[in-house]
Amino acid sequence: MGNRKVKNVLVTGGAGFIGSHTCVALAEAGYQPVVVDNFANSQSDVPDRIAQIIGTAIPVHQVDCTDETGMRNILDRYEDWHGVIHFAAYKAVGESVAHPLKYYRNNIGSLLTLLQLMNDYPLHHLVFSSSCTVYGEPDHLPVTEKSPVRPAESPYGYTKQVGEQIITDQQQVSPAMRSVLLRYFNPIGAHPSGKIGELPLGKPENLVPYVVQTAAGWRDQLTIFGRDYPTEDGTAIRDYIHVMDLAEAHVKALDWLHQQEAQETPGIFNIGTGRGHSVKEVVDTFEDATGIKVPHQFGSRRPGDVSSIYADATLAQRELNWSASRTLGEALHDAWMWQQTLKPPA
Ligand code: UFG
Repeated sequence: MGNRKVKNVLVTGGAGFIGSHTCVALAEAGYQPVVVDNFANSQSDVPDRIAQIIGTAIPVHQVDCTDETGMRNILDRYEDWHGVIHFAAYKAVGESVAHPLKYYRNNIGSLLTLLQLMNDYPLHHLVFSSSCTVYGEPDHLPVTEKSPVRPAESPYGYTKQVGEQIITDQQQVSPAMRSVLLRYFNPIGAHPSGKIGELPLGKPENLVPYVVQTAAGWRDQLTIFGRDYPTEDGTAIRDYIHVMDLAEAHVKALDWLHQQEAQETPGIFNIGTGRGHSVKEVVDTFEDATGIKVPHQFGSRRPGDVSSIYADATLAQRELNWSASRTLGEALHDAWMWQQTLKPPA
């Protein structure tokens, strides 16, 4: 150990759901996460909770990623940068339809600022949070990275597509730059310690937060959106991945970037389990894993939802040496443990 060089990794949005779990995975792999977060959609005690898990405090900077001067000040404070993992973005599909400018300004603005700084500083390795939403409704399942990218259904989805394109264009003119685009499927669960997890503000849009809040009695019942999809039980199919599996994929992606001698285009990887589960199966698995019933009714389809999508994750396995190891039941159990630590809304 002794004088071993600290490998600083800038984690934008490091106090958020996926960011906080990735900080834990980075620390466990020997990296030093340096969090930058404006706490717009995260709690100020998250860095302390990360510290409780990993046993040591981590540097945190409360700065908005669109604030170039603020970001420069952070970059100036550290000697060496091993890379950056860029999570900082808004992510609510419905809100993005209502407030497109808010989404474009934040999600595109923060990426442009970051890429400018990567151009100006010796910070060359980028892991970008993208989404399987770029595939839209796929013709063939499972989806591979070669499946066509479809027109986005929402400004949120469009910020991911445009973000991928901006990085691809910048990569072309930046010989030192290395980048990966991780196309996440549906991240769920929480750290098994119950110290960090997802913190949806108000009524959750996503399935698993709604399931656990219903199980806790915060919501009367879950509405399952659509029971007439062309699937075995009629409910929609997604590829749910434990957030710690997803977090570990970022560490593997960073390692992979450092093995690349040259790169003309970003590496693109699906990050999913390779298995699809229906909404009904999620509810049944939750009930089996926890012994708690989730009152539910069936409602109409939610606009913009696709019927079925799940990943072909073999490229990530081959190239990144990563694959998901946790089950749906474990993820739902961990989500439930986390939910039980939360205070009911006032
Ligand atoms: N669902 C319900 N009831 C709910 C909430 C969700 O039945 O109360 C269903 C949805 O209709 C869908 C499935 O549960 O069939 C999963 O829904 P989520 O909202 O949890 O996740 P999505 O697949 O819609 O979201 C994902 C990513 C987003 C991305 C979006 C694109 O989490 O980042 O795909 O559609 F933008």
